[in-house]
Amino acid sequence: MLFCIVIASTFFNIFLLNFVNCDGIFYLQRVPSSCVQTTVTMTEDNTTTTNCFIFSWQQIADLTTIYTTYQDPTTNQTFYARIAALTVLGTIDNHDLDYHCPPSGYNGVAPGCSTPNNTHLVVLHINALDNKLYSINVILSGTPFPSLSSLVNNQPPFGTARHVFDGGISSQSTGYLKICKRNSSTQCPNTNTSAHALPYPLPSNTGYGIFGIKMYNFVTNSVWIMDDVNQILICTAGTTYYYFNSTGFFIYDYSSNTCTWSPACNYQCEVYNYNSRFLDYAGEWVITKKWGVGDVKPVAAQAWIGNAIDAAGIFPVILYTDNATGHYIGLDKLDPIPMSNMGASYWYTAHDDTIVGESVLKYHPNVVDVGCVSQLSDWTGPISDGEMIMTSKDIRLILWATFFLYFFVA
Ligand SMILES: *[C@@H]1O[C@H](CO)[C@@H](O)[C@H](O)[C@H]1NC(C)=O
Ligand SMILES: *[C@@H]1O[C@H](CO)[C@@H](O)[C@H](O)[C@H]1NC(C)=O
Ligand SMILES: *[C@@H]1O[C@H](CO)[C@@H](O)[C@H](O)[C@H]1NC(C)=O
Ligand SMILES: *[C@@H]1O[C@H](CO)[C@@H](O)[C@H](O)[C@H]1NC(C)=O
Ligand SMILES: *[C@@H]1O[C@H](CO)[C@@H](O)[C@H](O)[C@H]1NC(C)=O
Ligand SMILES: *[C@@H]1O[C@H](CO)[C@@H](O)[C@H](O)[C@H]1NC(C)=O
Ligand SMILES: *[C@@H]1O[C@H](CO)[C@@H](O)[C@H](O)[C@H]1NC(C)=O
Repeated sequence: MLFCIVIASTFFNIFLLNFVNCDGIFYLQRVPSSCVQTTVTMTEDNTTTTNCFIFSWQQIADLTTIYTTYQDPTTNQTFYARIAALTVLGTIDNHDLDYHCPPSGYNGVAPGCSTPNNTHLVVLHINALDNKLYSINVILSGTPFPSLSSLVNNQPPFGTARHVFDGGISSQSTGYLKICKRNSSTQCPNTNTSAHALPYPLPSNTGYGIFGIKMYNFVTNSVWIMDDVNQILICTAGTTYYYFNSTGFFIYDYSSNTCTWSPACNYQCEVYNYNSRFLDYAGEWVITKKWGVGDVKPVAAQAWIGNAIDAAGIFPVILYTDNATGHYIGLDKLDPIPMSNMGASYWYTAHDDTIVGESVLKYHPNVVDVGCVSQLSDWTGPISDGEMIMTSKDIRLILWATFFLYFFVA
């Protein structure tokens, strides 16, 4: 199904233009009637016309960033998931996909998010072998932001839109990629997203891995301990520690040695927002490479694309869950401002079930170690007991605890 034709043509003997015509489809994953066939053209002209989107190849070349490389298990083809905020002009069937930040306070969102006009937040799937662009997910912001209580799983306005290109499009370094509606269609993949529900809440799990920001070439440790029974979450990024309970969270910053309490977002606000109100299923990906992680043993994951809106602001994300256990194993975050090397990534190379009431209590530095409270129970409240049996898992936890304490006292 390779419909791409390359035509070189001369216009008035002035411009030599390369038109690459290609077929594709476009749809909003949550709106079955939105499916249209598209015609894809390479052009030097960025004038918008009705029912077309225009991307700049230069921006695609300059502004996209790769945190994740994956293999599609149905075809064994390897793709780079290139994330970006791009300037994209136009609409199709009045679907304006520009990203708008939600107002401060929406689902606990912190102030500070802003996006330039005509910006799409995208994940581009580029084949590692032929360097062709096969599809694009566009993250929808949900504007005009209905009340949270009226949001329904897998229903608009959040979720994603998708462009799929038959046979792929060869990447260019200049000019524009113009995607125009050709005809309404019913050929888009089954959009029954309820067949792929993101576990809600995610199963209690514990992960050890990295947090990295490509722009700063910065990679540090990250820990994620989620105990849903006790409504406790410990999440760290290097020397910043977040301790959530059911009423709020402590944030401890090692460099300033300060611990601050905030009731603005609690355990549920932080963890329960990873759900199908905001995220769409994007398929099974076998992750073969992560930026910031030396060697990745291939991991079968399910990928979810959309928004996470929580204590730290709004995070357009690709979220990963382990295909076998459902554990949360990481996310790639997009920044809403066009720039090179955007985003950040969490990836848990080791993960396991959380031992209820035990994994949290064994973690150091805890809220007492860093001086947030004088007794652990001031933060945990009454905690449901786990059985205290030493396993190899516990020994690993203790080793990590020692590692962190070393840094803490050093
Ligand atoms: C469109 O093309 C014009 C002329 O080449 C250029 O000045 C302008 O910045 C372009 N606009 C976008 C949004 O790419
Ligand atoms: C993908 O690779 C696996 C393992 O090498 C193989 O069993 C399978 O047939 C391959 N699938 C395709 C579509 O090539
Ligand atoms: C962005 O769009 C708004 C509304 O259309 C317009 O008022 C504003 O001038 C635009 N800003 C820029 C920088 O183009
Ligand atoms: C558009 O779709 C309709 C219904 O499927 C079909 O009859 C018509 O020929 C199509 N037109 C084009 C230009 O493909
Ligand atoms: C969608 O998937 C769910 C879960 O697998 C199933 O119960 C439901 O019947 C499906 N709906 C349609 C319209 O196929
Ligand atoms: C993911 O899990 C499903 C259900 O257990 C299984 O059928 C499938 O083969 C798994 N995918 C991969 C890539 O391991
Ligand atoms: C959560 O921690 C805060 C601060 O220590 C405390 O005031 C609150 O009572 C704790 N919540 C529960 C349910 O224990």
